[in-house]
This record gives sequence, structure tokens and C-alpha cells, in this order.
Amino acid sequence: MCDGRLVAAVEEERFNRVKYAAGFPAQAIAYCLREAGLKLDEIDHVAVPRNPYARLGTKLFYALRMPSFARSRIGVLAKFTGIREALAKAFDADPAKISAQFHRIEHHQAHLASAFFVSPFDSAALLSADGLGDFASTMWGAGRANRMEIDGAIAFPHSLGLYYTAVTQYLGFLKFGDEYKVMGLAAYGQPEETEAFRDIVRFDAGGAANGFRLGLDYFVHHRTGPEMSWAEADQTPTLGRLFSQKMAGRLGPTRAPEEALEQRHRNLAASLQARLEEVYLGMLRKLAEQSGLKSVCLAGGVAFNCVANGKIFDNTPFENVYVQPAAGDAGLAVGAAYFVWHQKLGKPRSFVMDHAYWGPGFVAQEIRSAIDASSAGGEGCSVVEFAEEELPRRAAAMIADGKILGWFQGRAEWGPRALGNRSIVADPRRADMKDILNQRIKHREIFRPFAPSILAEATSEWFEKSHPSPFMTLAYAVRPERRSQIPAPTHVDGTGRLQTVTREANPRYWRLIKAFQDLTGVPVVLNTSFNDNEPIVCRPEEALDCFLRTRMDALVMGDFLITRSA
Ligand SMILES: [Fe+2]
Repeated sequence: MCDGRLVAAVEEERFNRVKYAAGFPAQAIAYCLREAGLKLDEIDHVAVPRNPYARLGTKLFYALRMPSFARSRIGVLAKFTGIREALAKAFDADPAKISAQFHRIEHHQAHLASAFFVSPFDSAALLSADGLGDFASTMWGAGRANRMEIDGAIAFPHSLGLYYTAVTQYLGFLKFGDEYKVMGLAAYGQPEETEAFRDIVRFDAGGAANGFRLGLDYFVHHRTGPEMSWAEADQTPTLGRLFSQKMAGRLGPTRAPEEALEQRHRNLAASLQARLEEVYLGMLRKLAEQSGLKSVCLAGGVAFNCVANGKIFDNTPFENVYVQPAAGDAGLAVGAAYFVWHQKLGKPRSFVMDHAYWGPGFVAQEIRSAIDASSAGGEGCSVVEFAEEELPRRAAAMIADGKILGWFQGRAEWGPRALGNRSIVADPRRADMKDILNQRIKHREIFRPFAPSILAEATSEWFEKSHPSPFMTLAYAVRPERRSQIPAPTHVDGTGRLQTVTREANPRYWRLIKAFQDLTGVPVVLNTSFNDNEPIVCRPEEALDCFLRTRMDALVMGDFLITRSA
């Protein structure tokens, strides 16, 4: 970030190609410096979004009861104290020459800063909710101009994120990030077990604080610690089991990953989601009452629950919602930087994150070289360069013809959603497109929905809400009369996790959707991330690889259209 303006933001996983990669993000830092045209010794401030000294009392209390958890936390502390050395080592520099001032920003304060300081609001209520960070799971407050105030927090072991993860594990989804799958599954069930879940998460909106508590008998993490481990082979993280036998006693037998999904599991997913919404929306109502503000900024893993977010307008007094595209822990980096700039240095607000394109981009020559070097440049594929105006029309015609296109343009997205620069796009009108995409490219669970990208100006004609959702962090009901027109990205419950696309934010993607509308009357394309069980593609080489490896029909990269000749 230079003088309050965000210059670059990217996750290490896009470079080292390991999803949710942990460890020191040397390649991401190197890229950000390159993009800014700066050297390490020209950096004035380094902000690290973790403060090992936060909530030391609570930490020590649990450390005495959980020696192994305490050891792993002390490991984390050691890692963060050596950050100057780590930076110097990664860049082969002398630590003494790094003149930057180092700042530690508490996890949830960085989350709140990531949401508020880049939002379009001058004042807003703020809520961060996730699994666990610096021994807290939840924090709320209010932001006004270049300051934010913290009004409360909920400490370990009570956590909405861990609640969701525990039930996700119970349902047989054990991988890091699988909560998203269960949210998709929830739409297929009935919330018949909500009463049981009210005992698992207890909410008291009547009290002075925004309090919820976990029914700790259903969990083990307060006794064992949430144990995170990293796979030897590729460093993918796994979280140890969080739920206790009592959960199985109350909800019935657990499901093993390979077991078939039954209606009972779908109903439990629906009940889990229903209870999350009750507590989350309850907290937001309380926050609206306490602050008297009309806008809210959300962050933390729970802020990715687009289904719950979509219900904010009907269930709370809030009229505006902002969730920046990297609402999870990746976004902490941006939050920590803005916390230093505004909260510590007192600089005035001057920046709004109104698009997500803060990652690496590639010029035509780099794209051309990558094509020439790959087998797509040889026989079996045709490569044609198109003029700026012609390309969207060509691509839209192929989509309307049922073709599946890789769409690689400009700078890569910040955050886990592909938003029209590293996307796979397809015809939303074809009911079978979801299955075709899964068979040919994505290989995802059949119950997971695909998302619609819609021209922002057409939102109210197709969805029951029209508040902007530029980062796919809100799900709205598709208008009933429109559902049969866009069946592929309409979920079983009639909702869509939409991306509203403006001409200003992404002119080229907007023109593609506009061209599709001109052809078909439908201002929507199906948009899914450009990858196949890997981090989203970053460089042209990875896009070509994915194109050649899967059964995608065509790849548009910059001005080039690559099709298979066969
Ligand atoms: Fe977090």
C-alpha cells in the first residue's frame, strides 16, 4: 500500500500452487514489491496481523490445561518475533538494512480494518466473526472517518466459525475450507433439528453484550485445543476433530467421508445453517441498535456465508453491506496495512476497494510466449488474435452455443472467488450445464451450486434484491419467473450467489456479458473459478495447462482465442 492506495494483494497459494498454503509468503511479497516498483529497504512499515500478546490471560489459563496447544502457540509466537530475519532471509538482505517499522495488529482488529477502511462508507458498524485468531472468535465495533472503535469481543473457546467447522466435520467433510460445501448442501434440507442446534450455540441478544456461547459439552476444542496440522507432502492444513461424543449422541451417528449423503445429513446441514443465521443476524440486529448506523462492514470466515449475508436486508435495520473480496484471513494483510495507515498514523481516508483485481497481470507478449511454449501453440489447437470489440462478441456466441470457455484477463482476483479475470464461463440457460461442467472440468460435489455474474444494471429484473454484490459475498433469491431462464446458476432453493458486474469495475467482463445479453436477452453468464482442484490459475502457463488437461472448449487470454481444432 502506497500513500493509502492499495497497489497489490495476492495469496502465496497462487504462486506455490498449494491451496491454503501456510508458511512465509516470500513469493507474494516479492510480487507486491515488483508491482509497486519498490525494494525491500524502501518499505516504511511492515504490519503483521497477529498479536501474540493479545488476551494473554485467557491464553495462559488454557495453556496450563492444554500443554500441547500451548506449545504450538509458543511456536507461532517465535515465528512472528523473527519476521525481520525471515524477510531478510527471503530477500537475501541484511536485516540491519531493513529500516521499516514493524507493527503487530491484533487478528480481529485487522479483520475489522480490512472491511471498514477500504469500504465506501464514511461510518459503519463493524463485525468480524471467524474460527479463532489471537484467541478470539468475534469482535465488533464502529468505524467513523479514519478511526474505528472496538465495542466488544468474544474469546476462545466460543466461536461461530468453530461451531460451523465442528458440524462440517461431523457431517464427514474433513478438509480445510469444506464449510462452503455444507452451506451448499443446506439448501437441500429442512431445518428440522434447529432446536438441537439452539443447545449447541446459545444466544442471548437481550444482555448488554452481543453474547453467544457454545454448549461446550458438544465440543472438545476447549479441552484439547483446536489442533492444526500440515500435511508432510504439500503442507495442506487440517484441523483436528472439534466435536464430542455428545454431538453424535444428540444428532445421531456421524457420517464418514465416503458414506452416502442421506436426507438426514441434508436436514442437519440446513439446521446448522438456520442456527448460524439466527445468531449472526441477531448479533447484527443488536449491532444496528447499539450503533444507530445504517451500514455494516463484515469480515472473518463467517462473512463468507453469503446465504446469511443475503438475509441481512430483510432481517436487520442495515441498508448497506460491504464485504471485501478477501474477507477471510488472507484479507488480514490489507487490514493490518490500513490499520497502521489510519488508526496509528492518523491519515485521512482516500481509497475504496471497488474491484478485486489486485494480483498479477500479464502483457500480450507474455501471453503470446506462453502460448507458443505450450502444446496449444502447435497442431491440434488454433490461436487467433481479435480486436478489442470483436472478442467479446465471438466469446459470447460460443457461450450461447453451449461451449465452456476459460476467460483469463487482466490482473488476478484478490480473495477466493473468481470474478471475471480468472474465470470459467458458460451458458446459464442450460439446465444440464452444471453436470457438464462437473463431468468435464470441475469434478465437484454435485450439490454445490455455480454462481451467476450479472450486469449490475439488470440485477433488480432478475433478483429480488439489487444491493451491489461485486465480490460474490451475498446470495439473493432469483425472481421466481426468471428461475427457468437461468437454471444452471440457480441453486435448489431458488437463490444465486451473484456477482454484480459494473462497466467501471471490469469493462472487458461487462462487455462479454453485454454481448451475451445482445444475443440471448439474458444479462447473465455462469461464472466459476478457473481451476480444477488446485488454487485458481494465476499465470498464462497455468491457464493453458488447465485448458489442455480438462475438456474446456476454448480459452480466451487477453486478445487471443484458443480453440481445439479437433
Ligand atoms: Fe480470522
